[in-house]
Amino acid sequence: MSMDLFSLKGEVAVAIGAGGVLAGAMAEGFAMAGARVAVVDLRLEAAQACAQRIQQNGGVAQAFAANAMEKESLEQARQAIEAALGPATILLNAAGGNDPKVTVTPDNPFENIPIENWRRNFDLNLVAGALFPCQVFGPGMVARRKGSIINIASVSAHIPLSRVVSYSASKAAVLNLTRFLAREWAPYGVRVNTITPGFFPADQNRRLLFNEDNTPTERTRQIWSHTPMNRFGEAHELVGAAIFLASPAASSFVTGADIRVDGGFLAQTI
Ligand SMILES: NC(=O)c1ccc[n+]([C@@H]2O[C@H](COP(=O)([O-])OP(=O)(O)OC[C@H]3O[C@@H](n4cnc5c(N)ncnc54)[C@H](O)[C@@H]3O)[C@@H](O)[C@H]2O)c1
Repeated sequence: MSMDLFSLKGEVAVAIGAGGVLAGAMAEGFAMAGARVAVVDLRLEAAQACAQRIQQNGGVAQAFAANAMEKESLEQARQAIEAALGPATILLNAAGGNDPKVTVTPDNPFENIPIENWRRNFDLNLVAGALFPCQVFGPGMVARRKGSIINIASVSAHIPLSRVVSYSASKAAVLNLTRFLAREWAPYGVRVNTITPGFFPADQNRRLLFNEDNTPTERTRQIWSHTPMNRFGEAHELVGAAIFLASPAASSFVTGADIRVDGGFLAQTI
């Protein structure tokens, strides 16, 4: 046994949401480990920027635009990816986030959340963030008896955070769907796991975490005080867990698992 355990040579990794901060870092990690990477995002320019970073570091990557809220759009991306890079053997599902309209505040109490807003978070995190990509890319993996799917959960899937109620519920559903698929597809050589990131500054939450003068907000102080490592994570700190779960050699007996990369957040108590 050697460090080839963590090699992704010969793999084709599809990273959805990799125009963003966290999946972008994981997509770069897949390429460093030898995979050919399809960088998929709603924002083509952001996907292209990630693919270019990979190419500049000597990796193989191509950008694809797709809206993961629409199955047909993912289906078109799947066909384009297969023609360009070959069929997916790794699928990273990271489209997601919290719609601020659903955040509970004194002016926007739980009992008044409009159902359309609630559904938007479920459509983004559960449907685009896991269901549709698994429906589009999973059957090919099952047919070929080979695949690793990594869904992105959140600490709020485990312990609902204050204010982001429908985000938390939708991420809890991602954990549950992941275990369902792990059980269904294990006999066919397809593994399905989650990574639970703690708190990482990214495009979607930066305004919540830092004031305009870059000082930490009150929310940030609360997060740090509840994180044993007393800091935010950095996107590159997710790469090890992602490569481990992606690698058919390193995690061959791992399915239905959740790897927490959270600085100890979910271990914290008084
Ligand atoms: N940043 C954190 O602290 C944190 C913590 C826990 C979980 N997460 C989760 O990690 C994942 C990645 O988030 P991030 O922090 O990198 O945010 P991000 O906003 O930087 O990245 C999200 C990416 O998803 C893309 N996207 C959104 N809707 C899409 C759609 N319908 N189709 C295709 N692409 C779409 C966006 O264009 C963006 O590039 C999300 O699921 C998020 O909920 C983030």
